[in-house]
Amino acid sequence: MSAKPQFIFCGCQFGAQSVLKQEILGSWPDFKLSFSRPGFVTFKLPADFPTKSLPTLDLKSTFTRCSGISLDSVRADNETDRIDQIRQILGNSELPDFDHLHVWKRDCQIPGDRGFEPGRDADTDALAARIARSLDYENLPLNRIAKADQRILDIILVDDNQWWAGWHQATRTPTRWPGGVYSMTLTPEIVSRAYRKMEEAIRWSRLPMKPGDLVAEIGSSPGGACQALLARDLQVLGIDPAEMHPTLLAHPNFTHIRKKASEMKRSELTHVKWLMSDSNVAPNYTLDSVEHIVSSKRTNIRGMLLTLKMIKWELAAELPSYLDRIRSWGYQYVRARQLAFNRQEVCVAVQRNRSKRR
Ligand SMILES: C[S@@+](CC[C@H](N)C(=O)[O-])C[C@H]1O[C@@H](n2cnc3c(N)ncnc32)[C@H](O)[C@@H]1O
Repeated sequence: MSAKPQFIFCGCQFGAQSVLKQEILGSWPDFKLSFSRPGFVTFKLPADFPTKSLPTLDLKSTFTRCSGISLDSVRADNETDRIDQIRQILGNSELPDFDHLHVWKRDCQIPGDRGFEPGRDADTDALAARIARSLDYENLPLNRIAKADQRILDIILVDDNQWWAGWHQATRTPTRWPGGVYSMTLTPEIVSRAYRKMEEAIRWSRLPMKPGDLVAEIGSSPGGACQALLARDLQVLGIDPAEMHPTLLAHPNFTHIRKKASEMKRSELTHVKWLMSDSNVAPNYTLDSVEHIVSSKRTNIRGMLLTLKMIKWELAAELPSYLDRIRSWGYQYVRARQLAFNRQEVCVAVQRNRSKRR
């Protein structure tokens, strides 16, 4: 009897599924594209793919927000029937004991469009509680951050009447977050959604920034990202020809340098340890500005978080060359991820020396 076919699922940004498919099929040419919707893609694996590696499989994909073993889908007009079908799938599969239940929705819009932001909400949390009750998983933490090595049952709300069941084992930081999204509680004073982006970038990258370190951000106006940095008691230089929000200007640890990056004297950045960039320009222009700074003997930048705008999706194919360019400046540890709170852009985390933490 032939072995049952194996599938994996990948969650991504709404609209990023085409670049995700190209990226995965480029690295894993034996995978076959299976079910796909904007923001959610599944692949059939070759028959000889090692089953044991699947729960912690690292696809090494910039555009995959989260992934796992795909068990099957359920389709029914009412919730009770969908939950019953999930029960059957779980009963028919050889599964480990789970430590967490994550119930998450496929993104149905681009983050930031018409107020949409990815991640947990009251509806998915309430549904998670109903599913846990029906499936006798009431003892599991629901939509909480898992610890490394814990096993997570994923129920993915792909459409109103169609869900997907899967599971994965937590490894790196974002694999512990429900649907790969770090869920944060925001205060009303956030001046731009870049706050979310910076918060997620810091938690994903785990750059070892310490209170009091000096950080500069190129493209800092109006100032959400700088707020997230200031909330960590960092000293912040905002570099932007545009105005900063008054909240930032009033902060004692914030200095605005009202210039374009190219107009900066590198001596102004001598004490900067960490460099952020979020300019709305093409990636090569961002990299030119950053290279100008890091290549100077007057600066000593330990690490960076760079937003590269994919002003057209075709630029995704250039990512490996952008990362090589960054490595050529003497930075060993360079990773790219399309953050949940990114729009059509990716975040590159850069460290001169590899931190021991994963
Ligand atoms: C997406 S916004 C930045 C949002 C900001 N990071 C925040 O937290 O609110 C892009 C910014 O890049 C700035 N910018 C574009 N080219 C620049 C350059 N060469 N140097 C500095 N800033 C630049 C623009 O003025 C604009 O304010």
